[in-house]
Amino acid sequence: MIILEGSVGSYITIERTSYHYFAGNNYLGMANRPEVIAAACEALKKYGTNVAASRRTTGTTDIHLQLEKQLAQFKGQDDAIVFASGYLGNKLLMDQLKNEITVVITDSMTHSSILEGIPPTIQEIANYKHGNMKQLESLLNDFKQQNILIATDGIFALTGDIAPLDEIYALAQKHQALVLVDDAHATGILGKHGRGTPEHFGLHNAPGLFQSETMSKAFGSYGGFVAGSHQLISPIREKSAFYGASTALPPALAAAGIASLQFLEKHPDLHSKLLAKASQLKAAIAALGYTTNEITTPIVPLFFEHATEAQQLSDFLKANQIIAPVVNYPVKADQAILRLALSIDHSEEQLDYLLSTLKKWKEHHGRN
Ligand SMILES: Cc1ncc(COP(=O)(O)O)c(C=O)c1O
Repeated sequence: MIILEGSVGSYITIERTSYHYFAGNNYLGMANRPEVIAAACEALKKYGTNVAASRRTTGTTDIHLQLEKQLAQFKGQDDAIVFASGYLGNKLLMDQLKNEITVVITDSMTHSSILEGIPPTIQEIANYKHGNMKQLESLLNDFKQQNILIATDGIFALTGDIAPLDEIYALAQKHQALVLVDDAHATGILGKHGRGTPEHFGLHNAPGLFQSETMSKAFGSYGGFVAGSHQLISPIREKSAFYGASTALPPALAAAGIASLQFLEKHPDLHSKLLAKASQLKAAIAALGYTTNEITTPIVPLFFEHATEAQQLSDFLKANQIIAPVVNYPVKADQAILRLALSIDHSEEQLDYLLSTLKKWKEHHGRN
């Protein structure tokens, strides 16, 4: 395990040595932007570390309300609600939908926060092989008398590929099913305005399509959120235990979220620049003979048949001051994956150094 001794940017420090950091999910570098840090510090001084109360009792500050307003604006929605963890968002949403659904169908590589969030009242849970729409359709037929929710990640955490939400949604419409997309990795990254996977597929605001999102990745802050119609958000405020019985998101993190949104509003092309960079990096890595995928997201997986090879490469990279871990959680993939995560702040020199180091390993050891 890596023990960080400072902030996570495109470099990190371990035991006083600087490493190129190709891990984590600080895709737009927002966790280190001076504006974001300054806003968090100011709120920290004003409100302390924590309000120590739930939103419904005495834990709502003006900053929470401002953040929710800005998130709703960013998403082009009526309203938004923030809470203390992105991981909880899927549970919170499925809790709201539980009276409308009896079956949940998931992609086999769906994140654990979806699986663990499925309400106990659900009678059947089924999954289709990763991205296999034929199998999804056949499951929809199997459960045709039921009320179905299809739940999937937008960008998959390990492989960085994008769920075929256009096809999923079309199938859902045909079978009167609802769809939940966990956009933890896609918020701020996919779609013209960075509104995530639905926007990427022209499905922004589509009826029966729900999105759970987080500020902990592209936004560089922390905390989950759901944006939607008043009809969706008001009952969450009124009834959800996460709103009523869980301590509010610390105000400093809410302030960081606001500053991050403001920064992104002034720099609307940051995510498209990142995606262009990711596409070039993937092509260059594939040209070295590595197996990756061609999907343009900031997660660059290198696939290996054997976990030992992936680990050897990760160790080799670390010996050359590059951090890129092997990831095998929270879902089990068929192949071993070394995951490179790209940030807008990685310089050309860093990318050249990464590629030359990957080339060196390939020449001496690589077989993937
Ligand atoms: C797909 C996915 N969903 C949800 C989460 C949880 O979000 P958070 O870490 O903001 O709680 C993660 C976090 O890593 C994730 O990868």
